[in-house]
Amino acid sequence: MAERTLCIIKPDAVERNLTGAVLKMVQESGLKVVGIKMLQMSEQQAGGFYAVHKARPFFEDLCRFMCSGPIVVAVLEADNAVKRYRDLMGATNPANAAEGTIRKAYAQNIERNSVHGSDSLENAAIEIAYFFSNLELVG
Ligand code: CMP
Repeated sequence: MAERTLCIIKPDAVERNLTGAVLKMVQESGLKVVGIKMLQMSEQQAGGFYAVHKARPFFEDLCRFMCSGPIVVAVLEADNAVKRYRDLMGATNPANAAEGTIRKAYAQNIERNSVHGSDSLENAAIEIAYFFSNLELVG
């Protein structure tokens, strides 16, 4: 079934000019970009996005990092997009990421791990709505 998921290219990857390289891996894997933009979040916006992690010890560092520079947010569409994109990203900690994944290729550590992807279809809908209106999505 066709699904949509949210992809974030994080500040560490945008800053190293890896946006094109990441999008190439995404598109070559068959995930279709149906919405995309570049922006820089405030710390408050990052906190809202990662609200589920509020109680975690890494929450503050994560929010500071996520608003430290521009990010690229994109909506990806495909059959099983949520799982397909998570598989393409690889493990959260790049030390555990498999060959051929985005994080194996580009992530620097568990925080500066280059990309984010929704972890479920339900969260994908919430995360997409956090950044995009329907008018900004095609197809
Ligand atoms: P992401 O998929 O964006 O969702 C939450 C993020 O928290 C995760 O990727 C990691 O980059 C970040 N993070 C930082 N430290 C940790 C940690 N110790 N365990 C899990 N996630 C972490």
